[in-house]
Amino acid sequence: MFATMGALGLAPTAAAATPPEDFRAPRPSDFHLTGRSAGKVVILGGGIAGLTAAYELGKAGYDCTILEPRDRPGGRNFTVRGGDSLTDLDGHTQRSRFSEGQYLNAGPARLAQWMVTLDYCRELGVPIEVFTNTNADAYIYHESAGMQPGKPMRYRTAKADTYGYVSELLAKATDQGALDQQLTADDKARLLSFIEDFGQIGGKADGYAYKGGSNRGYTTWPGAAGTPGTLLGDVPDASAVFASGVGRHFSFEFEFDQAMLMFQPVGGMDQIPRAFAKAIGSHRFKLGCQATSLVQSADGVAVGYRDPQGRERLLKADYCVAAMPPHLLAKLPHNLGTEVQQGLTTIRPSSAGKIGLEYRSRWWETDHRIYGGITETDMDLSHIWYPSYGHHGERGVIVGYYNTGSNADAYAALTPADREARAVMQGVKIHGEKYRTELANSFSIAWARTPHLEGAWHSIPGGPDAAVYKPLNEPAGRVLFAGDWLTYMDAWQHGAILSARKAVTALHSRALKA
Ligand code: ALA
Repeated sequence: MFATMGALGLAPTAAAATPPEDFRAPRPSDFHLTGRSAGKVVILGGGIAGLTAAYELGKAGYDCTILEPRDRPGGRNFTVRGGDSLTDLDGHTQRSRFSEGQYLNAGPARLAQWMVTLDYCRELGVPIEVFTNTNADAYIYHESAGMQPGKPMRYRTAKADTYGYVSELLAKATDQGALDQQLTADDKARLLSFIEDFGQIGGKADGYAYKGGSNRGYTTWPGAAGTPGTLLGDVPDASAVFASGVGRHFSFEFEFDQAMLMFQPVGGMDQIPRAFAKAIGSHRFKLGCQATSLVQSADGVAVGYRDPQGRERLLKADYCVAAMPPHLLAKLPHNLGTEVQQGLTTIRPSSAGKIGLEYRSRWWETDHRIYGGITETDMDLSHIWYPSYGHHGERGVIVGYYNTGSNADAYAALTPADREARAVMQGVKIHGEKYRTELANSFSIAWARTPHLEGAWHSIPGGPDAAVYKPLNEPAGRVLFAGDWLTYMDAWQHGAILSARKAVTALHSRALKA
């Protein structure tokens, strides 16, 4: 209803401009007076790109069929709940035992405010809530810098010390005239005023010294009269702070695609593919159907596929939107030519992995006063995420590792039980024994070892505008390509959507001229 109102111009739609793109969804009226009609489209892959293509083309009446080898739409947008099962390419089968209401967003898990994904949440009626991407009360734990088990550093303390010493040094340099070539007297006064506040440092009379302050935190929190609070002591010296390496995490919170506020759909990221699938219509999906060949001719495309019963079938259409991972598309027998094949094979898959650890209590909230956010480590688990939903509930799912590259490959090489044991062994160093004793169950994913996806995201040598990808960006025939891998926003649903919209626009303009 909301989508229909949007199409009629009575409600905001996903076409609401997301700079720099100015997308206009195809409409049935576009065909008026052309003597043409919306044709048949086969879409390879029911991930976010394929879903977007089917949804937007469907607005103009295209007859879309989505071939999806998995038993659900969404692709890497995969939310694991109790009862879900997965067998990886190494034959490990896991069946999730998460409790009712608990889930792991195994793939995408956060949305920036500027992302077009939020426009689709609005249009499709998917409620959203804040995803806490940074938290001053989460921890940093750098073993290689000598941090000891049980003694991680609060993010706020790490930041206060780093900002403090950087400010002290800059203030001294400024005051001693080291920047006189760069700054006027007014500039210097204003810079000093800023960094004195920014770094919580002393004034000129104190030599601009950083001695710690309330931003570091307290050992006794300030309270009622008589309890002024006790500042966290033992301020390390500047050399120790820089040696700890904590500062390398601070630019993350300001990255264009990672800065707070961030959002997540209420109830799991897969509310997005579910809503897409509902709007598209279940009759348009062929789930459990694996494409086996792709042949285009002057007047159409023919896609061979294997149905869930193992029978070979053929689907003919006017156009194809190929929205599969590029390295898997490259393995599909096709007649699209060597240049297309070269583009597809140049893009390489990357590894990432996650484990969801379900706990019987939310000890991170009660004992550590951490409500969402991320703990950063230099162990191969990389990141620990605290859930941004279900606060104060009985149970919760922590992301016990979220890692990439060789760290992800190292975890992927383990059995699910060994992955859990390793993640817990590392997490105990930060959180203590409850990390082990309160654990109820776990579910892990190794994207590079997940059938039909075989990667988390991609490396795109030269960037998506390199000449080698031209046959994919501007294909000559009836097969159009779509996926986050063809964008500057690889590894984001935003990229998948924008790429699909580009393919939809190209397909529609061809259909109007055909
Ligand atoms: N977009 C992915 C993330 O936010 C890589 O972790």
